[in-house]
Amino acid sequence: MSIRRALVHVPATSSNLGAGFDCVGVAVGPRLRLSATLDPDSDAAISIDRAGTLAALSSAAPTDDLLVTGMRAACASAGRDLPAGLSLQASSEIPVARGLGSSAAALVAGAVAIDALLQLRLGDLAIAAAAAGAEGHPDNVAPAVWGGTVLTLTGADGRLSVTPLQVAPSLVLVLAVPDFTSRTDSARHVLPATLPHADAVRAASLGAALVQGLATADATLLTAALTGDVLHIPFRRQLIRGYDDVTAAATDAGAYGATLSGSGSSLVAVAPVERAPAVADAMRAAWAGCGVTAQTLVSELSGPGYTVSVQVDRM
Ligand code: HSE
Repeated sequence: MSIRRALVHVPATSSNLGAGFDCVGVAVGPRLRLSATLDPDSDAAISIDRAGTLAALSSAAPTDDLLVTGMRAACASAGRDLPAGLSLQASSEIPVARGLGSSAAALVAGAVAIDALLQLRLGDLAIAAAAAGAEGHPDNVAPAVWGGTVLTLTGADGRLSVTPLQVAPSLVLVLAVPDFTSRTDSARHVLPATLPHADAVRAASLGAALVQGLATADATLLTAALTGDVLHIPFRRQLIRGYDDVTAAATDAGAYGATLSGSGSSLVAVAPVERAPAVADAMRAAWAGCGVTAQTLVSELSGPGYTVSVQVDRM
């Protein structure tokens, strides 16, 4: 029997972009890399070596790891069990618990790797649905799969659909990643169960403004969508030290607006490409003024999704 090795790269993601709460996400620069080896003659339990930002998780049991959860979810969609004889080496550049989709990247990496190793041929939509089903955040999973900026829609029947969004080439994201973390479950806990109908109407118009603003780089639409959200930002902003100062500094330096990346702690600005260095400097400086050290990175909104390659060693 042959030993198969899948090499998978999965990007970080930034979800929501203000008014796209729970439905819009973008693939961004940092990557998780997974090398997964399957020896079909081995009955050894799964093993994981973790490096980079994953090294901090080294005490987690392999069966609880999100890479393995993604593998199990993909196997389940194909009616298969997770096989024995798997060894994983994972290394990530994606900061953990900073609103950059590190969990979604791990789930997608696991699902893509096992799909390649077992030749499940699930296809991207089934891979995304399996990973999103395990995590519940398709707006992080879908851009990690497709790349670029995408809209996710979960139908009344529970089926996921994913639509790539057009983005004006003059736009970039400026991400500011602070030295503190934020937990998504805590950030969801502060959201209200219901909102007034007038807020729902405003949310619909701001969501449409985000999509059209991204496509056309229309400043009025982008600013409204990035700064006027009514679904999550009003309830979450107080969880992030420096939120008002850093988002205002980004806008003052020439961004259309800034908001939480995912549920935070990172903040993300959308800016014209020529303003990106000044926006990044302003966001770092504003956070420093609040006693927070932050790193910034500039990312296009049309970056790649996952890549996978397979090697087969004949015995
Ligand atoms: N859309 C989700 C949220 C993403 O904002 O809670 C979580 O990373």
